[in-house]
Amino acid sequence: MKKVILAHRYHEEAVAALSREFDLVIAGGKDGGLRACLRRHADAEALISFLSDPVDRSMIQGMRKLRIIANFAVGYNNIDIAAALQKSILVTHTPDVLTRATADLAMALILAASRRLVEGDAMVRAGEFHGWQAGLLLGKELNGALLGIVGMGRIGLAVALRARAFGMKVVFYSRSAKPRIEKQFGFARVTFLELIRSADVVSLHLPYSPGVHHLFNRDVFAVMKKDAVFVNTARGALMDEAALADALEKSEIFAAGLDVYENEPAVNPRLKKLKNAVLLPHLGSATEATRRQMAMMTVQAVRQALSGRKPRHLIPEWKERLKK
Ligand code: GLV
Repeated sequence: MKKVILAHRYHEEAVAALSREFDLVIAGGKDGGLRACLRRHADAEALISFLSDPVDRSMIQGMRKLRIIANFAVGYNNIDIAAALQKSILVTHTPDVLTRATADLAMALILAASRRLVEGDAMVRAGEFHGWQAGLLLGKELNGALLGIVGMGRIGLAVALRARAFGMKVVFYSRSAKPRIEKQFGFARVTFLELIRSADVVSLHLPYSPGVHHLFNRDVFAVMKKDAVFVNTARGALMDEAALADALEKSEIFAAGLDVYENEPAVNPRLKKLKNAVLLPHLGSATEATRRQMAMMTVQAVRQALSGRKPRHLIPEWKERLKK
């Protein structure tokens, strides 16, 4: 039987399918982590990786028979793609199935940060709600506000469409032109500077790469509107967390809603003290239905690769390579 390594236990249905069809090794836990597991099982032919575990060059190079890395996430910046390509190891991810759940969560953060939901909840629990007041916890209105989407991919578009239902106007920044989106939905593509200067809510939907490390830094927060809301459900390293904490402390922006952090699971301690920061533990795709679909997609990718077929959800770098 072909050996498959699963970085951590996940949806039981997927684990059961993998155990039936392959010699399944589950890393993590007492095993000493993924690195040790890969070293011990250098003859594995497939790896199902999680975004929380780096799969670096030395790990990849140590594998003698690896044919596929199936990442249980849409983002795959945890994997050294150049190293995988060099060894012709296929890499897949889980696009599409998590678009709606992630867009819902971004919308939840936009609402929570704009309307001060967490502050309100804490107030009630602390017994500090002493009756309706005209000026209690006033927030920002979404109707008529301008949403700036940074990264107009599948998730960015899904957030824009949800926001439109709340009466928001939408502009977006994207490196490539998106004429279909501009024409079909009337969302205008603007420059990055225009977006950060004018948006009332800025929501990040870019994949991470070193080229966009700390895209949101001190200078960018300084340019944003004083009453802007900043939401990040993409990747933590797209923002300079210390600079964001400064901007929130000094009320240079109104609030932030974060689902991701620069050094997960660590969170800048200053952010934890701030009332105008809503902090979630990377829950973008965390619904029962979505996580099941993502898990089954990784099983399917492993099946396809190990039976010599082309997996359906190869990452763009692999699709490009196959075109040549
Ligand atoms: C979650 O962050 C993902 O990339 O799927």
